[in-house]
Amino acid sequence: MILVTGGAGYIGSHCVKRLQDAGYETVTFDNLSEGHRAAVRGTFVEGDLASLDDIRGVFAKHPIEGVLHFAAHCYVGESVENPEKYFRNNVANTLNLLQATREAGVGKFIFSSTAATYGVPESVPITETHPQAPINPYGQSKLMVEQMLGAYAHAYGLRYVIFRYFNAAGADPDGEIGEDHDPETHLIPLAIAAAMDRRPPLKVFGTDYDTPDGTCVRDYIHVFDLADAHIRGLEYLAKGGESARFNLGNETGHSIRQVLERLAVIAGREVPADDAPRRPGDPGTLVASSQRAREVLGWEPRFGDLDSILRTAWDWFEAHPEGYAG
Ligand SMILES: NC(=O)c1ccc[n+]([C@@H]2O[C@H](COP(=O)([O-])OP(=O)(O)OC[C@H]3O[C@@H](n4cnc5c(N)ncnc54)[C@H](O)[C@@H]3O)[C@@H](O)[C@H]2O)c1
Repeated sequence: MILVTGGAGYIGSHCVKRLQDAGYETVTFDNLSEGHRAAVRGTFVEGDLASLDDIRGVFAKHPIEGVLHFAAHCYVGESVENPEKYFRNNVANTLNLLQATREAGVGKFIFSSTAATYGVPESVPITETHPQAPINPYGQSKLMVEQMLGAYAHAYGLRYVIFRYFNAAGADPDGEIGEDHDPETHLIPLAIAAAMDRRPPLKVFGTDYDTPDGTCVRDYIHVFDLADAHIRGLEYLAKGGESARFNLGNETGHSIRQVLERLAVIAGREVPADDAPRRPGDPGTLVASSQRAREVLGWEPRFGDLDSILRTAWDWFEAHPEGYAG
C-alpha cells in the first residue's frame, strides 16, 4: 500500500487516481487545509502531519510499502510574508513524516520538490546539477527537505526520489478531478476564470523581459505526466534504484502571451488581460531539462503540447466552474 500525503490536493489527487488505475492500493493522508475530500479515491485518513501520532497511526494501521509526500504549503508570496508557516509545515512537519517512516521501517520515499529551489537560473534549460539557490522561504523549505532526505539516506538507508516540478497544469483527461486552489495563483486557471468572466482581467506581470515577446516564459507540465513519473519513480525504487533527483518539465518554454493566445483559440473567446509591472523575484525564463527522467525512468510526457494542457484544464473548469464546491 502506498501512503500519499497531500493526496486531496491538486497534484496528489491526480497521482492517487493514476496509482489506482495502475493497480496500487493507496491511503491518502490530508488535513484538508487546502485539499478536497471529493478529489480522493480510495482509503482516506484526515490527519495533520503536525501530529506525530496522526501519521504514526497510519503506519500502524496500514501495510505501507512506500511514501509519496505532496503535503505542503505552496504559495511563494505568502512564504515571504509568513515564513514561519512555511518552515513549520514544509520542514518541521515533514520531519514528523520522516520519523514515522523510519520507525515503520519503510525505505521508499518520493518527495515533491520544485524548480523554485534553483532560484534565478544561471542558464537554461535547467539541469539537476544547476546550483540550488532559492530566493524565497517556499523554495528554501523545499531545499531543506531535500537535504534532510540526503541525511536520512546516509544515516538510515532510506532511498528516495526527489521530483522538481516546473509549472504543473492541466486536469484529469477523464474530467473527474482538476485544479481547485483558493486563492488561485497559477496562470492557466486564472486565465480561464478571466475568460469565463468569473474574475477580473488577468494581470500580466512584466512585459519587458529578455524573452521573444517580453513576457515570462515557463515550462508547463501536465499533472497526468507528473503522476506517471511518480509511478515510474516507485517502480525504480522497487527495483533497487539508488536515491535520485529528477526535473519534471516538458523542456519547452511558453510565454504568457503565447498561453493566452492558445487559450483564446481553445475557449473560442478573448482572455481579458492587463499589463502590469514585474513582480520581484520572477525570473524571465524557467525551462527544464528532463533528460535524466527520460533516460533513467523511461518517462515521456504524453500531454506535452500546450494545447492538451489547456484543453483538459478548460474542460474541467467548464464542467466545474465552482471547482469541487459546484
Ligand atoms: N502546483 C505546482 O505547480 C507545483 C510546482 C512545484 C512543486 N509543487 C509541490 O507539489 C506538491 C503538491 O502541490 P499542489 O499544487 O497539489 O498543492 P495543493 O495545495 O493542492 O496540495 C497540498 C495538499 O497538502 C495538504 N496539506 C498541507 N499541509 C498538510 C499537513 N500538515 N498535513 C496534512 N496535509 C497537509 C493540503 O490540504 C493539500 O491537500 C506540493 O508539495 C508543492 O510544493 C507544486
